[in-house]
Amino acid sequence: MTLLNILTYPDPFLKKPTSAVTDIDDQVQTIIEDMAETMYDATGLGLAAIQAGIDKSIIVYDPEADAEKKDFRVLINPEIVFSEGEMVSENEGCLSVPDFRSDVKRYERVTVEALDRNGEPLKIEADGLLSVIMQHEIDHLKGVLFIDRISALKRQLYKKKRKKALKSE
Ligand code: NI
Repeated sequence: MTLLNILTYPDPFLKKPTSAVTDIDDQVQTIIEDMAETMYDATGLGLAAIQAGIDKSIIVYDPEADAEKKDFRVLINPEIVFSEGEMVSENEGCLSVPDFRSDVKRYERVTVEALDRNGEPLKIEADGLLSVIMQHEIDHLKGVLFIDRISALKRQLYKKKRKKALKSE
């Protein structure tokens, strides 16, 4: 297994919507294993392929972030088909947005349709943390980061901070 390099803001690749997976072949299985390994290594709750520079609609996630059990789930070509309610996701963060967390307005409940890693159709009705993970990761596949969903003022402050941090690297 290979640890993948996680792209960080402002890498332009993160803004590019990903392509659907048409063939769940060995290459895709390898990508999934590498993504899971990378997610646990970075102690994230989820990872979208785009974050590793891979133009494919694939998500791995594990709400428990349990690197011992590694009981992760895979969604291929996921779509939110239903959403309702409103909630504030507190202190949301992202492996691609270093050194920043913010409250984000999210739907309370979502229904997601996708394929599993064997190509079988899946339907997930999620609320709470799982719902936030779904929305956050599916946003990634559309080229959207959680900082695109906060106030323009807060986003500007982060952009400035990030520029400074990159300069001093
Ligand atoms: Ni993220």
